[in-house]
Amino acid sequence: MPRRKKPSVDLNKIVSLCKRRGFIFPGSEIYGGLANTYDLGPLGVEMVRNISDSWWNYFVHSKEEIYGLDTSILMSPKVWEASGHIQSFTDVLVDCKNCQYRTRADHLVEDALLKKGVVEKVEGRPPKDLDELISKYEIECPECDSKSWTNAREFNLLFETTIGTVTDGARTIYLRGEIAQGMFVNFKNILDTFHPKLPFGLAQYGKAFRNEVTLGNFIFRTLEFNLAEFEYFFDPNEKDWQEYFSSWKEEMVDWITSIGVSADRLRWRVHTDEERSHYSERTEDLDFEFPMGYKELFGLAYRTDYDLRNHMDQSGVDLSYTDYKSGKKIIPHVIEPTFGINRVLLALLTDAYREEEDRILLKLSPEVAPYKFAVFPLVRNKPDIVKKAREVYDHLSGKYHVSWDDRGNIGKRYLSQDEIGTPYCVTIDYDSLKDDTVTVRDRDTTKQKRVHFKEISL
Ligand code: GAP
Repeated sequence: MPRRKKPSVDLNKIVSLCKRRGFIFPGSEIYGGLANTYDLGPLGVEMVRNISDSWWNYFVHSKEEIYGLDTSILMSPKVWEASGHIQSFTDVLVDCKNCQYRTRADHLVEDALLKKGVVEKVEGRPPKDLDELISKYEIECPECDSKSWTNAREFNLLFETTIGTVTDGARTIYLRGEIAQGMFVNFKNILDTFHPKLPFGLAQYGKAFRNEVTLGNFIFRTLEFNLAEFEYFFDPNEKDWQEYFSSWKEEMVDWITSIGVSADRLRWRVHTDEERSHYSERTEDLDFEFPMGYKELFGLAYRTDYDLRNHMDQSGVDLSYTDYKSGKKIIPHVIEPTFGINRVLLALLTDAYREEEDRILLKLSPEVAPYKFAVFPLVRNKPDIVKKAREVYDHLSGKYHVSWDDRGNIGKRYLSQDEIGTPYCVTIDYDSLKDDTVTVRDRDTTKQKRVHFKEISL
């Protein structure tokens, strides 16, 4: 019989656990908050570091032909003109004429059609199309029930800021909306310094910024987020793009399942012509079943030679690649796997959450769990035991991120660690003073075994 999938958790439970235990806090909270910004707490930052380190190991360090970069958030505005983002990086929004509620028109229509049982994917439709759907299905404002909407109109997602002061002529520049452009503008630097042979990739990890209108769903869609992506350059005359595309699809799934996301909550979805980004000839999303339904976790796009060609035209710099055998010049094509790291954090937390009879449990893989071990002295008022426990803690923390807990009774300490996903709890007791053995308790099975503390490892 096929295994029954565990039902998805209520998102509010994750939000509350994240706040209560120090994974994720609302941004600028003491000033009433800034909508859709979040701060990572001590446990959240550990998880994000673990996720991005794992990504870097998998896609950069273990691939000889992929080179890492860390390029600037602020770039010349000419970059965004050439990339087409100033012209085409847009969403469509509408305002309720009655209560001024503002939302993305495609999200409004899609939610309403789902509710009415008329299921239709509408992302990426032009404003006129969305206006027609809003009026045809008499879509109501979710805030005040009015059916009176402004016309849908496009607005740009790039965050603007200025460089310089008003007196010496401030210039508008943009916070990067994707991190890919840093790799395209450094393409020639890599050719000149590393002389790579096609196919090869350029990878980076960092913050991206988008002036999103419809937000919510906790950290799923925020104004700034951690993004990891790489551009895989190849010669389209040597090998078909579909072959690269399908092998990266497999590797994307391999990586995300290797860090603990359930394969049966993942599915691929092909973008419609309307929703595909301006630079892409084919895009597929790897959707994950979040508490609010299947939503994009990662994207995979065939960007052709669109970016290199446009940067070459606009900058006047030769960005072609010379084949070392034939001496022929070509503009390489690109496949781009892209990974929203904050969405990985949300996927891992929701997938790992369990409620058992007497405990809440995060069944995180040790690779991503904030702490790998927790060390407990059985009692806190016996200096010998505390001293031995400190010795064990120092030994383990030389290699792993380890939590120290000497509050309350051992049972309560187990529950507290289960809730934050610590895979193993190590208790130092009276016997430990005699022979340096300790008990190691497994989070998932709750079974304990006794070992010499120097034998403990993941
Ligand atoms: N360079 C390609 C690119 O930027 P994208 O699909 O627009 O593609 C990449 O974004 C990934 O970034 C998405 O797959 C998603 O995981 C994540 N993402 C996009 N917008 C986001 C937002 N507002 N908040 C959090 N993550 C976001």
